Order: sequence, then C-alpha cells, then structure tokens
Amino acid sequence: MIVRSKMVIADDEEVLSRTSAPLPAPLIVPPAVAPSRTIKLEAHADLRVPFLMDPAGLAVEQYKMLRGRLNALEPRGGVLLVTSPAPGDGKTLTSINLAWSLAQGGFSTCLVDLDFRAPGVTRTLDLSMDDGGVEEVLTGKKSLSQTLFQIGDRPFHVLGIRERVEEPSHLYATALLQPLLSVLRTSYRWVILDLSPAVPMSDVSDVLPQADGALMVVRSGKSQKSFLPPLLEILGRKLWGVVLNDTPVLGSAYYGSYGKHYR
Ligand SMILES: Nc1ncnc2c1ncn2[C@@H]1O[C@H](COP(=O)(O)OP(=O)(O)OP(=O)(O)O)[C@@H](O)[C@H]1O
Ligand SMILES: [Mg+2]
Repeated sequence: MIVRSKMVIADDEEVLSRTSAPLPAPLIVPPAVAPSRTIKLEAHADLRVPFLMDPAGLAVEQYKMLRGRLNALEPRGGVLLVTSPAPGDGKTLTSINLAWSLAQGGFSTCLVDLDFRAPGVTRTLDLSMDDGGVEEVLTGKKSLSQTLFQIGDRPFHVLGIRERVEEPSHLYATALLQPLLSVLRTSYRWVILDLSPAVPMSDVSDVLPQADGALMVVRSGKSQKSFLPPLLEILGRKLWGVVLNDTPVLGSAYYGSYGKHYR
C-alpha cells in the first residue's frame, strides 16, 4: 500500500494527537437511521471482511495502516473515490474494509456504492434495497435517512444501489451528485465512493471532479501494466495513493499463519 506525499506511518492516536488539536471541531452529525435499518454482519466463509473473519490478522493491520496514512494526509477527512484498472481488482473489498477500518477507529464514515453497473457493496453486504438507494436519493424520491444502513455499532453508514443501471452518466451529473456529496461531506468525516474501473467508461472521470481524492487498487498478478498510464492520466493530482491488493505482506513470515486468507 502506498499513500502519496507528506505521509507518515502512525497509529490513529498519534495522528489524532498531532493533528486534531489545532483544528476547529467540525460539526459532523450523521443522519439518523432507524433501528430497523441496522445490520449486524455475521462472519461467513464468503465474506472477505477480515475485521470479522480474522480480526487479529495482518490484513486488518494493513487496513489500519491505510487508515492512519489517510488521516495523516487529510485530518479533516473527505470524499475519497476508489477505482482500479479493470473489473475484479478488489475495489469493493478495499472500499468495504477501508470504511470499516475508519469507522472502527472512531471516524464517522459513509460508504456509497456508486458502481451502478456492478453494485458490489450492495451485493457483498447483501443489503435489502426495497426502500431504495443512491438513485432514489439522487432523484429526490427518498431521503438519506430512509435509505442509509447502519453497520454494526460503529459510526458506519452505507448507501446501496437498488437496481443496476447500464448507462449511469446522468446520475453522475454535477447537478444531481454534487448536492448529495455536499450533504455527506458535512455529515461524515470520511465518505468512501466505490466506483467502476476507470477505463473505458467515463464514470470515474464524471465523479472525480466532485471527489477530493482517489485511491487506485492494483491487484497483484492481475492488473496489466498497460492500463496504468491512462489511469494515472485520468486521476492526475487527485490520486492520493495506490493499494496493492492480493500481495504478500512484508514481514508476514514473522506472523505465522496470520493474514494467510487475506493477503
Ligand atoms: N486480496 C484478496 N484475497 C482474496 N480474494 C480477493 C481479494 N481481493 C478481491 N478478492 C475477491 O475477488 C473478487 C473481486 O473483488 P471485488 O469485488 O472487490 O473487485 P472489484 O474491483 O470491486 O470488482 P468489480 O470491477 O466487478 O466491481 C471477489 O470475489 C473478492 O472476494
Ligand atoms: Mg466492485
């Protein structure tokens, strides 16, 4: 995992003690979510959420490091888009675990499934979308409180997608998306947007100007080098970091079997 510029590795307490004192306390009030919309995720073999499946493992340590680096880079938080060169690189898995990690560290976080073509967050967390999701909020049919889910007992909300949309560019239009992101920006410390691959569709290019930064997920042994230059060009200065997914963790030999399921 590489997170760009002025980065230091530090745990959250250290980051907070160095960064929170001079900042005015932000007014962050997440929308109320009905108790009936609280989801308690149960560990099961297909759910690759190491915070549940292997809380003492190395993958959890890696997500905590990512959390520390992001908070050091942007102590006030922000709206972070997650993308990758191609389908299946691990964008959704990274988005879920990063959001989980941030919330576990006490940072209020909203994870938004913005991959209308393949709504991975919604599917992975098995959200029941009868009450609507992002599209219904964007088009004014539902409110955030009606559509958000609370995950567990941490400050962790998720907004899913009710139905796939083949051609979602109208939903990424600034006139629709910007007002939603403005509300989320003032309601949470971190907003994580799970998107589609950055090429060849325009989705990421459409959303990027409305986000503060982007994380690029690269999957070891899968992502093709030739995809990287166009991606780097698209993300430009908004690229905050690269997550190397599915790669052996440096030092993992010292930890025996820890991290063997999630590398
Ligand atoms: N580090 C990993 N170890 C094991 N399995 C992984 C890892 N990363 C991703 N996977 C698995 O690979 C598949 C694709 O992951 P994921 O859905 O996160 O990718 P994606 O980039 O969001 O895909 P899409 O482009 O379809 O949205 C999933 O089955 C996921 O569980
Ligand atoms: Mg996905």
